[in-house]
Amino acid sequence: MSTTIDSILVEKRTFQPPQQLVDHARVSGMDAYRALCDEADQDPDAFWGRLANENIRWHKPFTKVLNSDNAPFYTWFEDGELNVSENCLDVHLENGNADKTALIFEADDGTVDKVTFRELHARVCRIANGIKSLGYKKGDRAVIYMPMSIEVIATMQACARLGVIHSVVFGGFSFRNLHSRIVDVGASLVITADYQVRGGRKIPLKDPVDQALAEEGGDIVKKVIVYERAGGDVAWTPERDLWLHELEQGQADQCDPVPVEAEHPLFILYTSGSTGKPKGVQHASGGFLLWTKVTTDWVFDAKPDDVFWCTADVGWVTGHSYITYGSMAAGLTQIVFEGVPTYPDAGRFWQMVDRHNVTVFYTAPTAIRSLIKASESDSNVHPKQYDLSSLRILGSVGEPINPEAWVWYYTNVGGERCPVIDTWWQTETGAHIVTPLPGATPLKPGSCTLPLPGINVAVLDEACKEVGAGRGGNLVITRPWPSMIRNVWGDPERFKKTYFPPEMGGAYLSGDNAQIDEDGYCWIMGRTDDVLSVSGHRLGGTEIESALVAHDRIAEAAVVGRPDDTTGEAIVAFIMLKGALPQGDEARDLAKNIRDWITSEVGPIAKPREIRFGNNLPKTRSGKIMRRLLRVIAEGNEVTQDVSTLENPDVLEQFSNAY
Ligand code: WTA
Repeated sequence: MSTTIDSILVEKRTFQPPQQLVDHARVSGMDAYRALCDEADQDPDAFWGRLANENIRWHKPFTKVLNSDNAPFYTWFEDGELNVSENCLDVHLENGNADKTALIFEADDGTVDKVTFRELHARVCRIANGIKSLGYKKGDRAVIYMPMSIEVIATMQACARLGVIHSVVFGGFSFRNLHSRIVDVGASLVITADYQVRGGRKIPLKDPVDQALAEEGGDIVKKVIVYERAGGDVAWTPERDLWLHELEQGQADQCDPVPVEAEHPLFILYTSGSTGKPKGVQHASGGFLLWTKVTTDWVFDAKPDDVFWCTADVGWVTGHSYITYGSMAAGLTQIVFEGVPTYPDAGRFWQMVDRHNVTVFYTAPTAIRSLIKASESDSNVHPKQYDLSSLRILGSVGEPINPEAWVWYYTNVGGERCPVIDTWWQTETGAHIVTPLPGATPLKPGSCTLPLPGINVAVLDEACKEVGAGRGGNLVITRPWPSMIRNVWGDPERFKKTYFPPEMGGAYLSGDNAQIDEDGYCWIMGRTDDVLSVSGHRLGGTEIESALVAHDRIAEAAVVGRPDDTTGEAIVAFIMLKGALPQGDEARDLAKNIRDWITSEVGPIAKPREIRFGNNLPKTRSGKIMRRLLRVIAEGNEVTQDVSTLENPDVLEQFSNAY
């Protein structure tokens, strides 16, 4: 946990929501937003109860909304029963949307495949019947290790239909990660594919599964279901392995959804975890479904003819909440993309928005920054080469979006028509927490703005006191909400210690540093472990990074602290440059120029002691910068840690020279 941050790079401009959005928005104008906030404040149980009755089909109605008896192990709608898959599929079949397109799948090579809600429902039922025929039932755990596809979504939904608890492992993780998750979650079923295809390359998935299951404890898995994506040429264990298409054959198109208690775990998702072993974040069926659906409606202002594209992989929470569940419950037509943003070139995202007439586009700042860089060196992949006029809302998630990238996104992708919705949330929160509403909230670039109705946040110091406007501290959520984490799978002590430490007085501790300005707007300063202390001044890494990225030679930057005898910490900046890497004097001159820039942008205190250049930053496969490794390099040490979770381990070498 951290203490205070004294300053922030303040972006002064405010952007009002476009009138045509306000006119038709689900939450139209700030008065409507405030009315919802008031409703929730006055009687939270009535507010959440109303939403749960309006948005979910219950098999058995609930009589109690929130139960706090065993806090922080809160339960929601605990005596109600529902089925999540029924709420995502069957309801649309019955409300006249059976023939509406549910998913538009675009393969790595550009091939397009579409399914309607009726077809997807039938597919999910066949897979569920197949899984049931193997003897699996409510409460069993299945690990899913598949590429982005209609099949992975159908498989998750099939598990939900049966009450089988899934744990999706991102296809980019190694067999070791896969193994540890299989063992921790106690999976008896694995669902995978022969290969995944990304950026024109075939990458094995079944092989790592075989390797993982050969490790100690892997024999708890009794069956491996394999989706044939790329030719099926893989090793086979006949008594254990079976093809998905063979399993589906002859299965009925109907499968009765199994009603489960609202608190029945829908899934367990392991967080990337910078320290310690990954935590299995456990989510509950009722509360998760409710808040992912309602936030889809409000935050993306969901409309029946929208084409929604969340570019996340279902291996991460964003894909769970805003591809497989919330957005499907909201009945949206969605894009599912198998490939990568830079293949066959860095215009791929814009080309797909153009081709499929995407109306709501939701991606990560790291993707935006890399596409800015690409479009500056090759004008053919600049968004202005494409017709993006279908867009009406742009979203951002995963890390703070620096004002530079925000304005570029707003101007070049959104044509100054589309609000940029910077959504702050976490695997643990299940759904959006602090975010603008497109038809209501005035936007300040770099701020995720205001908490959603029903959500109460605060910034607290170490003594559990609110720090006051403009001061940094621990971002906490002071009241429970339906889609909150229920437990760390198998480790309730860790759950309590990590998220509800006694010093926070019962609030949920996010682990993020933030400040709330005089307008109540929230500014995320990065994780608590990103905070630097230089000569007694506390500085947010994000703040310096934002300033660095505003320099015209810099595409992306990460700042870490190195212990220093005199100043406490010294700032080391890792910089991803646009264009060629400079050497010798040229590099020294550029480093000086960057120091001068920071001095003028943030102040001399933020001047990096050391600057290291590369043409990328070390990132996990989910696009998060691996600061832990940067700290090792900053301290002048060799990286001896396991770098198998890195997307680009080669980049580490480039940073050996410091200027
Ligand atoms: C960061 C992803 C600033 C934050 C949904 C959080 C953000 C962590 C934002 C959770 C945002 C996510 N602005 N920071 N809009 N969204 N973060 O669990 O540090 O993969 O704690 O969930 O990402 O990452 P996770």
